[in-house]
Amino acid sequence: QVAAASGHTVVLVDQSDEILKKSTKGIEESLKRVTKKKFADKPEAGAEFIEKTLKNLTTSTDAVAVVHSTDLVIEAIVENQEIKNELFKRLDKFAPEHTIFASNTSSLQITQLANSTTRQDRFGGLHFFNPVPMMKLVEVIKTPMTSQKTFESLVDFSKAVGKSPVSCKDTPGFIVNRLLVPYMMEAVRLFERGDASKEDIDVAMKLGAGYPMGPFELLDYVGLDTSKYIIDGWHSLEPNNPLFAPSPLLDKLVEEEKLGKKTGEGFYKYK
Ligand code: 3HC
Repeated sequence: QVAAASGHTVVLVDQSDEILKKSTKGIEESLKRVTKKKFADKPEAGAEFIEKTLKNLTTSTDAVAVVHSTDLVIEAIVENQEIKNELFKRLDKFAPEHTIFASNTSSLQITQLANSTTRQDRFGGLHFFNPVPMMKLVEVIKTPMTSQKTFESLVDFSKAVGKSPVSCKDTPGFIVNRLLVPYMMEAVRLFERGDASKEDIDVAMKLGAGYPMGPFELLDYVGLDTSKYIIDGWHSLEPNNPLFAPSPLLDKLVEEEKLGKKTGEGFYKYK
């Protein structure tokens, strides 16, 4: 959405037409929200902006066919090393020489993903934040093998889509998640110990620390499955780090498929 809105030609690839239809609808809804604010007094210019953006955006279920004519691939599939490696390995065979590969992974090592390809110098991390149309940050990750030219292209792309890039080494969670995920897990542990209710913890962090959402609201917003993938991955890397300890309550909710806002229930219920 943000790439198309800033004039780039984008092909959104996913597994089925049904998912793509749902994604396109989500983008249309989000564009309406952005436009309402951006073109408050100019509804005609707003309508034109939406039309232009949607013209820049097509969809496909065939990543291999699309990658033939792609300058930049941004992967944002399930947080699973093997599945991501498999995809990158396949795309690497069909992508042009100059094409840069980037992963939006929240928690996996970019170096390991790059190693599934033959273009380690043209591979980096581009980590966006939910909701992407609103959050201004992008973390740009350079592995020891990423070339300076690739890194600069990723920084330039981030700026071209209207974001503010920061850089971080290829370390677990980069900057934001390395601080945010342990904080959210500490909130769950506080609640699990019965020290405070989840509602009070959320109110406390909003009114006492000025956060726009409390930790339980944010966990539900990000998705409990995604949060669990992240913490489980880090726990397996550093089993003795108490900040990365799994939470029985989070595990139980995921097991019950209460994954947050997207499934209608997580820590809270949504209609
Ligand atoms: N698309 C377009 N516009 C959107 C939007 C979307 N998806 N979501 C919200 N907005 C707009 C609304 O239209 C509204 O616009 P307005 O100011 O013109 O009314 C504005 O954002 C504010 O929205 P709301 O009034 O509905 O609610 P809030 O004031 O609470 O703002 C929020 C919503 C921007 C999501 C804010 O609550 C927030 O910043 N929350 C924290 C988000 C956060 O921490 N994200 C990082 C998560 S971690 C992550 O993503 C990393 C990953 O790897 C796990």
